[in-house]
Amino acid sequence: MDSSTPKKIFIQNFGCQMNDYDAERMVEVMHRQGYATAATAEEADLIVINSCSIRDKAEQKTASAAGRYRELKQFKPGLVVAVGGCVAQQEGERLLRRIPVADFVFGPDLIPALPSLMARVSKKRFAATEVIEVEDYEFLDADPEPSAVKVTALVTIQKGCDNHCAFCVVPTTRGREVSRPADEVIAEVARFVALGAREVTLIGQNVNSYHGIGSEDGDDFAELLERVDAVPGLLRQRFTTSHPKDFTPKVARAFRDFRTVGSWLHLPVQSGSSRTLKRMVRDYTRAEYLEKIDYLRQLVPDISLSTDIIVGYPGESEAEHQETLSLLEQVQYDSIYSFEYSARPDTPALKLRDSVHGPIKKRRLQEVQTLQRKITAARLRRWIGRDAEVLVEGASKRGAGQLCGRTRGNELVHFSAPVGGDEKALIGKLVSVHITGAGTNTLIGQMDSDVVRRLPLIAAHREADGAVH
Ligand code: 5AD
Ligand code: SF4
Repeated sequence: MDSSTPKKIFIQNFGCQMNDYDAERMVEVMHRQGYATAATAEEADLIVINSCSIRDKAEQKTASAAGRYRELKQFKPGLVVAVGGCVAQQEGERLLRRIPVADFVFGPDLIPALPSLMARVSKKRFAATEVIEVEDYEFLDADPEPSAVKVTALVTIQKGCDNHCAFCVVPTTRGREVSRPADEVIAEVARFVALGAREVTLIGQNVNSYHGIGSEDGDDFAELLERVDAVPGLLRQRFTTSHPKDFTPKVARAFRDFRTVGSWLHLPVQSGSSRTLKRMVRDYTRAEYLEKIDYLRQLVPDISLSTDIIVGYPGESEAEHQETLSLLEQVQYDSIYSFEYSARPDTPALKLRDSVHGPIKKRRLQEVQTLQRKITAARLRRWIGRDAEVLVEGASKRGAGQLCGRTRGNELVHFSAPVGGDEKALIGKLVSVHITGAGTNTLIGQMDSDVVRRLPLIAAHREADGAVH
């Protein structure tokens, strides 16, 4: 290769927002080594498969991705293939045997060490799965290319998880919980805003147990929201994922009290049956969960809610499954993510008996999804005829003159901009969109050119940099 041509990295990413965040950091670490980003795997000199092991299906994607790169490597002997992420951490050496094309596998704690791992690449393949001790763990600051910064940015506030949900592999793959110091979080939010972001999503496995401040009342997460709220130029913040047992009234009040906190909460319930919840080791009952939702809706009646559901957990009876359906009816979530239970290595649930047969799990999943489709459709219809405050993210796939963005409730809206206006100039701004229709999961609307007259809400944001004047 011509020495003036930079080497290129390509990441095939699977899994959650934590993996999205990690993938961005891997790219940045290698950029500092002179690597460029490859548009396709074919162009790459280094391919990283950033794996997810949350369910068996996710885990299998790693092996099939690796299969595709096998042939590529035959044509390009210098190509390095690495597997990162949660499967790498969980399987280590075993993964080297299962994935012959991998030169090395490495765990999520070793992203900063990627250049030195690359320097070790030779015929002798290796697994690097060291876990950094909680006291020594340092968060890697985001260092994005300005052109890579979008309207909305992810900011990690925590790594790992100290919960013991019996079905979940994450405590094994991501290790003990560590909170990122609040000053680092705020500095990163401010950096993203300076580069053009207008919304941040604070991410962690259990953001409500964040303890990076040492606040007087112990509710560090509520205080973090307040500090992020004060970052000049930031228009919105969201956060995920919340654990119901740690979701406090003070955090609920943040939705009402802070300018930037959007009206959307993802609060995974997993099951509507207190007996199942107990066997999942979730540490809350159905009634306690519903109380938290009630309180929140008293404060913010129109809040949008989403959740995660697992069907077919070991020992789940038909009556317990019905309780999940009735919970969906009762809460009226705007959207849900639903899954069949999948047995994961080294998890406490493996010891439970009475596994639910595959066809029953499938039927239960279908029942959950059919019911939710109806609820989602009704929830989306409530927007029709209303004016929504939309943060414009970019061009819509629906065609010329169409933009897309999200409401405060996180609903995706495709809308037409005023004719003759400068559409690009609207990206990153809050605008008022008159909602005219609803699809299966999205809204359709028309932007009003006289934004300020139509939406008094926006007046409150006008001082913030980036709002429409
Ligand atoms: N099987 C099925 N779903 C799972 N989840 C986590 N572990 C499992 C598992 N073993 C789901 C939970 C969690 C979401 C991220 O994935 O609903 O909230
Ligand atoms: Fe998948 Fe969980 Fe790892 Fe995210 S943390 S990549 S969801 S296993």
